[in-house]
This record gives sequence, structure tokens and C-alpha cells, in this order.
Amino acid sequence: MTTAAATVVKLEPLADTHIDSLVIWRSRKEAQLHQPIADLGREQLERFIHSRMPGNFSDLLDHDYILIIADAMSGEYVGWMTIEVTSRLHGLVRIGYTVDKLYWGRGYATSAVSELSRLLFSESATARMEADCSVHNPASKRVLEKCGFRLIGIKKDYLIIHGERVDHLYYELLKKDYLASAAPR
Ligand SMILES: CC(C)(COP(=O)(O)OP(=O)(O)OC[C@H]1O[C@@H](n2cnc3c(N)ncnc32)[C@H](O)[C@@H]1OP(=O)(O)O)[C@@H](O)C(=O)NCCC(=O)NCCS
Repeated sequence: MTTAAATVVKLEPLADTHIDSLVIWRSRKEAQLHQPIADLGREQLERFIHSRMPGNFSDLLDHDYILIIADAMSGEYVGWMTIEVTSRLHGLVRIGYTVDKLYWGRGYATSAVSELSRLLFSESATARMEADCSVHNPASKRVLEKCGFRLIGIKKDYLIIHGERVDHLYYELLKKDYLASAAPR
């Protein structure tokens, strides 16, 4: 019996070469189904992108940024992650992720969230990661739970999506729990 190899991603710092992919991904109705994506023109998007570029990986809590999810084998770009530093002082980070619909169901989001957790907890002062997902988004919920995030509760009427306030599930992953689960038994 052969076992399918796990999907492996690399997370790339955002660069001008990713702009065309981001324009396409953000415009898809599937990407917008469960999250609010601002309708930015090309010029505005480029300005936004430039404000979200990390200089390098050594100061991951410097400011909010975006990372591109690429297939580690083929190098193909498959989606993006957002990293919002809610408190640099306290090491609090909120994450978001989107995989282009062409690549859904192949483990990319799970691999990307796992890799980001590893990066943030091993290479930055992050102590706590948080993520929210719409109650109508079971795929996102599953990704967070596969990556060890714990459900904290529900944020009622949290974000406005397509004109309606939507309840969101609120998840956390603590560095101490992440390290304990990664420790050899
Ligand atoms: C949510 C999203 C990131 C998942 O990306 P992905 O690369 O397909 O995710 P993965 O393949 O790593 O894992 C998806 C898991 O959800 C499960 N899943 C998918 N659709 C599901 C559904 N309708 N009900 C229950 N589980 C579902 C898959 O079976 C898989 O779990 P498994 O490995 O146990 O079988 C992707 O659908 C997406 O980008 N959606 C649009 C943007 C978005 O919603 N982002 C999240 C905002 S919080």
C-alpha cells in the first residue's frame, strides 16, 4: 500500500512578483464567501501590499504583514496568509489564510497554518496566536482544529459579510501548549 505524501508549503515574504496572483485570488467569489475582502483597485492594492511586506523573517512582530503560500515542491503560489500583530508588547498575533479555490482540499491551508505556527513560536516573541472563522465555514474550522487551535467561544455578530453581521468562532493557540504537544514523548 502506498501512502500519499503530506502537502508541504513554504511561506514566502510578499513581493511585487505576487501582485498578479493576489489580484486574481482576492477577486474570486469563493475567497469572499466567508470573509470581508475590500474591493481595492490595482493602485490601492499595490500600496496596501507594500505596507504588508516584512523586511525579513527575523522580526516577525514588527508590523502587520502578508505571506504567500507556495507549494514547496513545485514552487506554485496557492494562496496567502495575513498576520496581524495585535500587541507587540504581549506577543499577540491574529492570523488569516486563503487558498485559491483551484487548490482546495489538498492540505495547503493546514500545512500553511502549521508552518506559520512553527515560525512564529520558534523565530519570534509570539506567545499567543488567535484566529476567527465564520460559523458557516466548516473547512476553516477544521483547518484550525487540525493545527491544534482551541475553541474559546463565539463572537456574536462579529464581522459584516455581504451586508449581514455574522457570528464567528474564536480560536487560540498558546506557545506553551504548542511546545508541549511538539515535545517528544
Ligand atoms: C478554508 C480554506 C482556507 C481551506 O483551505 P484548504 O487548503 O482547502 O484546507 P485543507 O485542505 O488544509 O483542509 C480542509 C479541511 O476541511 C475539510 N472540509 C472542507 N469542506 C468541508 C465542509 N463543507 N464541511 C466539513 N469539513 C470540510 C476538508 O475535508 C479538510 O479536512 P480533512 O483533512 O480532515 O479531510 C479554503 O477553503 C479557503 O481559502 N476558503 C476561502 C477563504 C476562507 O474562508 N478563509 C478562511 C477565513 S477564516
